Amino acid sequence: MTRGTGLFISFEGIDGSGKSTQARLLAERLRGEGREVVLTREPGGSPGAEEIRALVLQGDPDRWSAETELLLFTAARRDHLERTIRPALARGATVICDRFADSTRMYQGLSRGDLRQAVDTLHELMIGVEPDRTILIDMDPAAALSRAKARATPEERFEDFGLGLQEKMRAGFLALAAEFAGRFRVIDGNRAPEAVAEDVRAALEARV
Ligand code: ADP
Ligand code: TYD
Repeated sequence: MTRGTGLFISFEGIDGSGKSTQARLLAERLRGEGREVVLTREPGGSPGAEEIRALVLQGDPDRWSAETELLLFTAARRDHLERTIRPALARGATVICDRFADSTRMYQGLSRGDLRQAVDTLHELMIGVEPDRTILIDMDPAAALSRAKARATPEERFEDFGLGLQEKMRAGFLALAAEFAGRFRVIDGNRAPEAVAEDVRAALEARV
């Protein structure tokens, strides 16, 4: 699957770590520098994938098995890639994505089941693309969870798995950053949004 010439940046981290805030601040900053930016998110980012988003993020925590979730998230990602990400990269735009395949490696591959091998196999078969740069916003799990809970949206299926899951996820994301050290940059999210944003921009300096 060809990528085009645009730059592909993803944000990862536990729920409430500040990914969406930082993705938006970075998009505003790069647009201010005159770049075309496509700010998007997963699950979602295309009409079909947004429909799948409602299926996976709302309802009872036991609604889906980890295996079924893996298929739904991968289906959503394939549609997002075909309709939003690849066209944008092909015309040279910068794509900023709030979560991508690393979230599946973590949530379905590690936390909800021991499915990492299946996640990687399916990724290779159906997606085959990694971001050029992945920003991991590292956060204390208790603080991140209280931030996430304060939002009070209906999309709380994953937050309802609780603090234990958040702690496991934080450690898992740090291990993933070490595994893919070439594209990951880890940034301390326990600071004011503007301070975090400065580090995010600096982490892209060599690329943008
Ligand atoms: P995520 O996308 O990782 O779940 P959000 O960007 O949606 O995180 O942030 C979760 C909540 O915390 C939001 O209400 C947001 O306004 C707030 N928030 C984001 N970044 C910070 C920060 N650096 N300090 C304090 N609160 C923040
Ligand atoms: P998101 O809207 O980014 O939530 P938050 O802003 O709280 O971080 O993502 C929703 C949830 O979906 C989040 O708990 C992680 C989960 N998720 C997966 O389990 N697998 C995936 O592949 C993706 C992209 C997200």
